Amino acid sequence: MTVKELTAEEKLRLICGKDSWHTVDLDGKIPSVCVSDGPVGLRKSEMDEKGNWVRDLPAVAYPALHVLANSWSRECAREMGESLADDCKEQNVDILLAPGVNIKRNPLNGRNFEYFSEDPLLAGTLAYEYIDGLQSKGVGACLKHYYVNNREYNRLDQSSEVDERTLRELYLKPFELACKAKPISAMCAYNRINGVYASENAKGFRILRDEFGFDGAIISDWGAVHDRTASAKAGLDLEMPFHEGNYEKLVADYKAGKITDEEIDACAERVLRLAERCEKMREGRKAERTVEERFAVARKIAEEGIVLLKNEGVLPLSPGQSISVSGYFAAPEAFGKISGGGSAMVQWRGEKFNLADILRKKTGGEVRYTRAFWERGVLCDSRQAEIDAAECDVCVICAGTGSDIESEGYDRGDMRLPQWEEESILRLSKRNPNTVVVLFTGSAVDVSAWADGVAGIVYAGFCGEQGGEAVARVLTGEVNPSGKLSETFPVSYEDVPVSWADNDPCVARYEEGLDVGYRYYDTYDVRVSFPFGFGLSYSEFVYSALKVKASGDKAEVSFTVKNAGGPAGREVSQLYIRPIAAYVHRPAQELKAFTKQQILPGKNVKVKFGLTTADFAYYSTAVDGWRTDDGLYEIAVGASSREIFLRALVKIEGGNISFVKELKDEFAF
Ligand code: BGC
Repeated sequence: MTVKELTAEEKLRLICGKDSWHTVDLDGKIPSVCVSDGPVGLRKSEMDEKGNWVRDLPAVAYPALHVLANSWSRECAREMGESLADDCKEQNVDILLAPGVNIKRNPLNGRNFEYFSEDPLLAGTLAYEYIDGLQSKGVGACLKHYYVNNREYNRLDQSSEVDERTLRELYLKPFELACKAKPISAMCAYNRINGVYASENAKGFRILRDEFGFDGAIISDWGAVHDRTASAKAGLDLEMPFHEGNYEKLVADYKAGKITDEEIDACAERVLRLAERCEKMREGRKAERTVEERFAVARKIAEEGIVLLKNEGVLPLSPGQSISVSGYFAAPEAFGKISGGGSAMVQWRGEKFNLADILRKKTGGEVRYTRAFWERGVLCDSRQAEIDAAECDVCVICAGTGSDIESEGYDRGDMRLPQWEEESILRLSKRNPNTVVVLFTGSAVDVSAWADGVAGIVYAGFCGEQGGEAVARVLTGEVNPSGKLSETFPVSYEDVPVSWADNDPCVARYEEGLDVGYRYYDTYDVRVSFPFGFGLSYSEFVYSALKVKASGDKAEVSFTVKNAGGPAGREVSQLYIRPIAAYVHRPAQELKAFTKQQILPGKNVKVKFGLTTADFAYYSTAVDGWRTDDGLYEIAVGASSREIFLRALVKIEGGNISFVKELKDEFAF
């Protein structure tokens, strides 16, 4: 069928949804599409006959995307997509409203747990795998929220004011990379971009389609359309959910000649294609993985995404040690509390976990549990917690935030843990030098008040319903931690450039430009609590034998990583590029390649990364395009943005790369 076979009325109806979660079928003429949230697990809503929400159906709650990002694992991202497809297929959902790839400009953004990273390469690469995994199994993705949607405060109206270069290099880049997976849909954001609503941002839609090769349908965020006519003219294909007033106004505008047939046809055609693609994907639809197998995927992602931030000889726990466990987050009372709130919140399908019980089974030693504080940081039975901490060999405190503090719709008030959680950590760590804090938060935390006084910190994040088992395995050493931070932990919020940007309720001025995350901290040598890319292991990895083979516009960088001590483990190796004496302002370094390798004890793994001159480029507003300047660049390889072990100097001249020399102790910036 083509749009030519539809009446004008049908076309107008087609580009406005049917209800909250479906598109229209035009009296059976075309297939209706069913969409559902979200990134962390399926949130299919049960509705009554009148279309009112009844409840969200339980589904596998995977780790949130920030934990997936901390895994730095393409394989995990792909498996998460594939496994989510099974959840969707069971519930007849055609399109999962995920993933979100917005850059973490501000650690306080309420939706950071739904997003991947402060770095566009990491975000875009993992989103690519997630989308490809999902779509390869017959369920469509919806890439969101397009774009510069980086805070929740006044999210429906605020304007993100950003210069073009920053847009291209940071905020659009993950969308560009994710589009290579050909998502069948994308969702526009709520906010305005330089004054124009994202739903009416013709320029943004043109970039998406013409430059990033997006060939799906663009859907509005729920309630993001202010003027259906203006949004359709700009290229927004489908308004969701159905909004009677907007639809009637669109019909009136059409009759008044304010929107042309060509403009309506363009949107209707794309919605029609979307419906046909979804119908095709439904063929032979059947879940491949059992629920147990999906739980195993969720656990694997959590295990690979948990980051060991500090370990002064306390971990892994030894068999038979007595352990005092405290904190609400060790035994979440209500489903979904170890999670952010809003549309990404999933009703856990399995059992609630209790970390103390899991640890008791694993260690065989005495394990006590005292809650000590509730999820909002209210103190309770703290006296007993202190006694337990004092008497046991190890004290494990499970602190965090949860959906009351981190959620769609609002931002966190500050970067610190709730006061009574900090207070508990301070009190209990005084009673036991072997105190380990496990952090269940959706974004970076200011740990400065208590980190020095504890022996271990494990960042579990919103690790999903299998998170309890995953945390226990990391604590006991059954799993060698391999997660690394996809987001810097600054010392305090005052160190984050956005905290001193000139923001008001209506306008977010991105004055810091490219100085976001490590691009800022590393350029200005700002002290951080834990740098981007950082994470400890129970093994020691040694980097050596850097080689750069350059030819024409390409270079191959190879090096060796050895597991020099400890059990088998996985190491995330990172490659950064550092321009030397650049003509324009450039961040001191930018991530350009990464890989995660399993390395057996005493063994070596050879890593190879391919680079081209495009990897050295910046976005030039002088030429309205990407540009690689001739000059010297350092290639830096290591375990985090601040643990660089191998460095080489290369030269770019006339579009060709040549190797200059290996750098040892010389400072390049
Ligand atoms: C959120 C989207 C979500 C949609 C549907 C909106 O409020 O911003 O991410 O997919 O609701 O629930």
